[in-house]
Amino acid sequence: MSRRPVWIDTDTGVDDALALLTALRLDNLDVVGVSAVCGNVPLDKSYRNARNVLFLGGREDIPVYPGAEKPMLLPLQTAENVHGVNGLGGVELPESPAPRETTKAWDAIYRCAKQYDGELELILLGPKTNVALALARYPSLSEYIKRIVFMGGANIGGNSTAVAEFNIYVDPHAAELIFRSGIPIVMCGLDVTEKAYLNHDEIQRIQSFDNPYGRFFRNSTKVTREFLARRGKDIFIPHDVCPILYEAMPNLFEGQIAGVHVETRGKITMGQTITDLYTDKKFEQRNVLVITNVDRQKFANILIALIENA
Ligand code: BDR
Ligand code: CA
Repeated sequence: MSRRPVWIDTDTGVDDALALLTALRLDNLDVVGVSAVCGNVPLDKSYRNARNVLFLGGREDIPVYPGAEKPMLLPLQTAENVHGVNGLGGVELPESPAPRETTKAWDAIYRCAKQYDGELELILLGPKTNVALALARYPSLSEYIKRIVFMGGANIGGNSTAVAEFNIYVDPHAAELIFRSGIPIVMCGLDVTEKAYLNHDEIQRIQSFDNPYGRFFRNSTKVTREFLARRGKDIFIPHDVCPILYEAMPNLFEGQIAGVHVETRGKITMGQTITDLYTDKKFEQRNVLVITNVDRQKFANILIALIENA
């Protein structure tokens, strides 16, 4: 099977880690580079976690580049309450022996996109700051990116505020820049990720796997599951696995083409993603496939099997 080159940009928290490990197990994806961005945790932790998660997955040969330490215009907001102070629910992974890359994420993304000459796809698991800065610095970059698939936003609702999802809320200006780039986009927002949960029995099953992926899942997801339990939910939501599985197995998902804008000025609506899905008044630019549904059972079965056979 031919592998498609993908670049993963991550604010390496608990579900980002699971998403990275999942990507390494998929035989039609070739993860050619990873960049770290601030978000769930500050950049130094996000960068360290990305390196160590790749080492756990036996792929420390994949280079990891450090990116933005803060959003484009706003002060950084983090989510240690969901991901733990170190971003991995308190799990201390062995340090990756890989050499530390000094090239900045935006320069590395541009270099790689040129190298793949229009074939590279970007998968964004956190705030969109690194790619927005890359587009600002290298305007021709949009011609070299085949597609961007990301976790973020929502057609309806939010988790940071009543209308804003975390990845967009942290850096709404960067997200708006991505939407306006003209690059084809697949948006895996809360509309789909909250449907792609693992239930109690599925969590127990994964926790019973006595391999490095199973043990990492058991230990790293504890803080997030406690966070959800306090809200009466006995589930785990692997948000960031959605764009990875979409990239590898799009048939599991359903979506609709839309135009999307991000609110960057609102007092109450800051960071809201506004789609034209439910109105006759369409936006001028309609370059986004908004994913709205997933075959939850198949999604869960595939994720479970990938972890079991790791
Ligand atoms: C998103 O926010 C982060 O906390 C998760 O890693 C995910 O990318 C969910 O809103
Ligand atoms: Ca994330």
